[in-house]
Amino acid sequence: MLKMEHRNAFWFLLFLFLTTLPFQGKALSNENVSPVVEKHQRKTLIETEYGSVSAVEIQDGFRPPYHLQFFTLDPNSLFLPVLLHADMVFYVHTGNGKLFWAEEDDGISSINIRPGDITRLKTGSVFYLQSNLDTARQKLRIFAMFPSTDHNNYDPSIGAYSRINELFRGFDKRIMQAALQAPEELVEAITNKTETPAIVHAVSKEQTKFWELEVWFLNSILGREIGNAISSNGKKLKSYNIFDNDPDFQNCYGWSLTVTHKQLKSLKPTNIGLLMVNLTAGSMMGPHWNPGATEIIMVLQGEGMVRVVCGSSYTDKSKCQNMRFKVKEGDIFLVPRFHPMAQMSFNNDSLVFMGFSTTVKKTYPQFLAGKKSVFQTIDKHIMATSLNVTKTTIEQLLDSQGLRFAEFVDNGINKFSSSLQ
Ligand SMILES: *[C@@H]1O[C@H](CO)[C@@H](O)[C@H](O)[C@H]1NC(C)=O
Ligand SMILES: *[C@@H]1O[C@H](CO)[C@@H](O)[C@H](O)[C@H]1NC(C)=O
Ligand SMILES: *[C@@H]1O[C@H](CO)[C@@H](O)[C@H](O)[C@H]1NC(C)=O
Ligand SMILES: *[C@@H]1O[C@H](CO)[C@@H](O)[C@H](O)[C@H]1NC(C)=O
Repeated sequence: MLKMEHRNAFWFLLFLFLTTLPFQGKALSNENVSPVVEKHQRKTLIETEYGSVSAVEIQDGFRPPYHLQFFTLDPNSLFLPVLLHADMVFYVHTGNGKLFWAEEDDGISSINIRPGDITRLKTGSVFYLQSNLDTARQKLRIFAMFPSTDHNNYDPSIGAYSRINELFRGFDKRIMQAALQAPEELVEAITNKTETPAIVHAVSKEQTKFWELEVWFLNSILGREIGNAISSNGKKLKSYNIFDNDPDFQNCYGWSLTVTHKQLKSLKPTNIGLLMVNLTAGSMMGPHWNPGATEIIMVLQGEGMVRVVCGSSYTDKSKCQNMRFKVKEGDIFLVPRFHPMAQMSFNNDSLVFMGFSTTVKKTYPQFLAGKKSVFQTIDKHIMATSLNVTKTTIEQLLDSQGLRFAEFVDNGINKFSSSLQ
């Protein structure tokens, strides 16, 4: 009986959060800054015939912005080598290909990449990408995050990486010749070269020549025999595939999972974790918050609604407003730590999103409702007092047909009627 009462109190809370608090109707029109970065708002960094790279900086209002990049390669294309200025954590969204990378003096190694793969590359390493000639003509799409940690900051003034040819051409011909002990024509061929595209067709003849030069250059800075014969004694890059593993939670309304340094050790120094949620049509990731991390979330599939609520700790209310906004594929939004949020799919489509969270530790999301909710331990009357309503009000609300959440489950993913969104 008592348990039932508690449960009712949470229903009430849920109801409050979703329908009656001031954020109801406080949609984007009140905001001068939209919480959502849409696909067309990404800044294009590289655009060639064979692919593109775009970037987004997203801010939580307290720390320097988080920097994200989106790589898109047509089938059978090459993203030419770059030298990383910051750690990079990335997720493969679509397509297949190969990632080549070299760290310090370990030689160059490669791994195959496919959707669901997560990996991390270290500052100072060199990498390049090749997309497969895919029968389905799927593009290789990669989402990358460049975390800022105490040891390793992404610095906007120098960017996330530089192209090998830029490094090369920045120097005087004679300096390069002396440094590399290379024949004059070879150095000239590179230093003379005007801007070459960053993404090229993998088999174009003109590009092969250029490509060979870059490989030769890599070879000389890394001091190893590379190129056609990729060294096999290089370290193996560790990756983790989301779809090879069981979700943390799964029921008929959807699934969710997180990836931390427990699953992929190399994430530890970056302090970045990943999460993915798939809500089937008409479902809700119930009100919850992350006590340990800011989440930067991007929508992979479908459409839905998101609600983000501010805590009372903000003395300056203008700094934080409760928000309710619609999201669709390609949208990116940020939820600061401790801010309660709820994500809902519409009745006509599932909603899939992935996110980078700014801590690698497993932080269990705190749910407002359900067995694991912290509020389970709080007495209903105390809840009523803290909400400044009477017990009668709660009962009346519960008696009214206001609550139409048809079912309730304890792990935070519920059925949800989108007429309430
Ligand atoms: C590079 O440019 C110089 C002067 O512009 C020219 O004399 C030289 O032949 C060029 N070298 C190559 C390899 O194209
Ligand atoms: C999400 O779930 C829907 C419905 O169960 C399914 O069709 C879709 O393939 C899933 N998407 C991902 C990325 O797992
Ligand atoms: C799905 O439903 C939402 C809300 O009713 C609507 O905005 C959206 O356009 C619909 N999408 C499709 C693909 O019908
Ligand atoms: C509770 O709400 C009533 C109005 O319904 C108001 O007069 C009272 O000051 C509120 N109490 C607190 C502690 O906010």
